[in-house]
Amino acid sequence: MQTIPRDPALDSSLAFKAEGYRFVANRCERFASDIFETRLLGRRFYCVRGEDAAKMFYTPDRFTRVGALPRSTLVLLQDEGSVATLDAEAHRRRKGMMMSLMTPPRLEAIAAAAGDGLRTAARGWVGRTVTLHEEVRALLCRVVCDWAGVPADEKRLARLTGEIGAMIDNAGTIGPPNWTARVLRRGAERYLRNLVEDVRAGRPMPPAQSALAVIAAHRDGVDGNGGDGGGALLPADIAAVELLNILRPTVAIARFVVFAALALHQHPETRERVAGDDAYMEAFVQEVRRIIPFFPVVAGVARTAFTWREHAFHEGDRFILDLYGTDHDGRIWEDPEAFRPERFLGWTGNAYTMVPQGGGAHHENHRCAGEWLTIAVMKTMVRALARDIVWEVPDQDLSVDLAKLPTLPASGFLVAIQAVR
Ligand code: HEM
Repeated sequence: MQTIPRDPALDSSLAFKAEGYRFVANRCERFASDIFETRLLGRRFYCVRGEDAAKMFYTPDRFTRVGALPRSTLVLLQDEGSVATLDAEAHRRRKGMMMSLMTPPRLEAIAAAAGDGLRTAARGWVGRTVTLHEEVRALLCRVVCDWAGVPADEKRLARLTGEIGAMIDNAGTIGPPNWTARVLRRGAERYLRNLVEDVRAGRPMPPAQSALAVIAAHRDGVDGNGGDGGGALLPADIAAVELLNILRPTVAIARFVVFAALALHQHPETRERVAGDDAYMEAFVQEVRRIIPFFPVVAGVARTAFTWREHAFHEGDRFILDLYGTDHDGRIWEDPEAFRPERFLGWTGNAYTMVPQGGGAHHENHRCAGEWLTIAVMKTMVRALARDIVWEVPDQDLSVDLAKLPTLPASGFLVAIQAVR
């Protein structure tokens, strides 16, 4: 049995900040091991990567997310009382409700609205150069509010886009930018909490299948953490948090769309095939999700003792699974840094090798509730960018800083819109 290598640094928090997406993989390579021990923010973590590690990490009920993330990240991403902070049966009940929003007709509806919305918006941009990330973010905020039954006039939409954008951009920061984003988050939560209360009071009634209606009416126990399943409505502030857990990450799909546009630009030979061949377009979307840097890692705390590769771990042990490193693992993906949509043609899926949005089974685990929605929305937006919108890329700084979490092309991706077919 190989002993678990230990990172010699007293604390690697600064190294994590400096190396960003590459932090875990750099050390796995250096130690020639899928696991090593390190200290981050004064606490011991085991960092792991690869298919086998993902299987270990996504064994149902093995890890809790409670206490795993720094508070600065937790409060901007999921927040206390949300589905991500629940375990076992309480988690399954709440997750079931979140997944019930993702039926094929509902996914088709939001995907169509996103694709149509992009084409319509682009008609207004003809002759101009726009920053794609900002525009797609604002558009997705409009689309998801409408889809989720959240009423918002132009002023409210601009405000929500700013509040949600700040949460996403600052999830990896600490100090003043993070505090500002938290204040902005409170504004969005207040608005959504008032909506939940209004809906419960019968005014106004959103469409029955919308996220607002479903979350406002959901009952999974009183205390939000275990509960008794005995029928109390979610506290209004928790319902607002869950609604935000639908709105915020849908707006975040803008990052994937920007990287998809960048891939169309950097691999022009793919464009025609993406435009005309649905199977290839889907493979293209998967390859963008695999290769681009978005969610670097997930963290968990062991709920019970277990053994992996003959090592005994204990309740309370902290783990970090390297999502980015697993998606770039050369043992799984041939020539992992090459952009090759073809690798996904005929791909039958693997919940432990392709983990940009987490792994394992959606219902049994913390794997992203919005993964299907993300793919559906990306497909229609990518199709519009490849087939219907004629655009050029002016000179700009397209470098991607892998130390920034989450990252983007430096310019936000400027595109000059020439026509819409
Ligand atoms: C924009 C691209 C997205 C990325 C990169 C992403 C990534 C992730 C990741 C890595 C997790 C944590 C997995 C874990 O803890 O093991 C997660 C959880 C989650 N995501 Fe996403 N996500 C995205 C989009 C979405 C969308 C569009 C929605 C909803 C419409 C969504 C809703 C959620 C929820 C509710 C959870 C918590 C699930 C649970 O704890 O069971 N995400 N996501």
